[in-house]
Amino acid sequence: MSCRIALVGLSWIGADLPGPASDPTLGTAIPYSHAAAVAAIPELELVAGCDIVAAARDTFRGRWSGRYPGLRVYGDYAEMLRTEKPELVAVATPDHLHRRVVEAAVEAGARGIFCEKPIATTLKDADAMVAVVRAAGVTMSVNYTRRWFPEFVEARRIVRAGGIGRLSQIVVQMGGPRSMLFRNHTHAIDLVNFLAESEPVWVWAELEPGFEDYGIAYAGDGGNDPATEPGANYYIVYANGVRAYLSGMKDTAGLDTGVTLTGKDARIVIDLEGIRLHSVHHEDIRTKPGVTTIQPITPRWTMAGMQAGLRDLIDSMDAGHEPASPPEAARTTVAVIQAILMSQARGNVPVRLEELAAVVQGTPR
Ligand SMILES: NC(=O)c1ccc[n+]([C@@H]2O[C@H](COP(=O)([O-])OP(=O)(O)OC[C@H]3O[C@@H](n4cnc5c(N)ncnc54)[C@H](O)[C@@H]3O)[C@@H](O)[C@H]2O)c1
Repeated sequence: MSCRIALVGLSWIGADLPGPASDPTLGTAIPYSHAAAVAAIPELELVAGCDIVAAARDTFRGRWSGRYPGLRVYGDYAEMLRTEKPELVAVATPDHLHRRVVEAAVEAGARGIFCEKPIATTLKDADAMVAVVRAAGVTMSVNYTRRWFPEFVEARRIVRAGGIGRLSQIVVQMGGPRSMLFRNHTHAIDLVNFLAESEPVWVWAELEPGFEDYGIAYAGDGGNDPATEPGANYYIVYANGVRAYLSGMKDTAGLDTGVTLTGKDARIVIDLEGIRLHSVHHEDIRTKPGVTTIQPITPRWTMAGMQAGLRDLIDSMDAGHEPASPPEAARTTVAVIQAILMSQARGNVPVRLEELAAVVQGTPR
């Protein structure tokens, strides 16, 4: 299928050129911008981009009109969508400004939408977005990029295949000065939902010191200033019995995200060094220490991240199945964030997700 795609939001994540690979003989690095991911998929044609900032439009045109000679730019996304009528729309506006663009894309007849994370910063917006795309039969995928990273896909395959016994615990360590709940933690929460393969039931949380009185409504600025969003430590319990502990306060080194999945028989460890399977053999668990073996895992892949996410979206549209990151799953991540805020607001107590609908109705957009 050949497909015309338009981008809304032309900052670095929208418009950057692909970075260099570790060696020129390896071509370029895995695309990490929407435009670079589009350029890596032959069936996609980038027809237009929109940003309210003229300099962003100029940079975008300068970078990409060599590759796409007919490329047009707009300052108003509604006008762009009405004029261009693209089959696919990528949404990379600030965190709290995705809903109107998605609604406008649906109105303009788009068949597929690739929307940045978080889907929204309120449950009200997330619910409206899910409703509008489902009613129109539009295929939507939310760019939780880790859902297309080989290490996490492989970890889930190993768990599904019974490689660690019944999955019991997931631990995620993140951190650094941009530990922001809606902007960055959202990736870790979605990743844990993806790996647990179950619905979160209740959450306990503590927000970063200084944010004790943050309240339950989003007070961020779209994801720019870390002072407008807290870091947090929290605990999520899933319907299938999986427990997840996530830590990410700003007063920690901004290292790579470390993830461990522990099952009844073994553990998967994922960090910058790759994936390892840790297994233990006990001769006599009561009297002798067990012997642990560590086996490196090497998944095979030909694409990853955003390029794989877009590919998955196109394939889903063609085949009529769900992409790996459907909007309902992204809505669940917003619900977990709401529960985290509510846990803090109530004095760091457990919050059941089923309570949320009643309490957060009417939370401002
Ligand atoms: N998936 C990932 O790994 C990843 C990484 C970085 C950012 N993001 C997400 O991408 C989105 C954009 O992030 P950012 O840091 O570039 O944000 P940003 O605040 O820099 O805004 C992105 C662009 O949108 C433009 N914009 C704002 N309102 C607009 C409107 N009404 N119409 C058209 N353009 C408009 C801005 O001028 C800016 O150029 C966020 O939702 C963020 O969470 C995702």
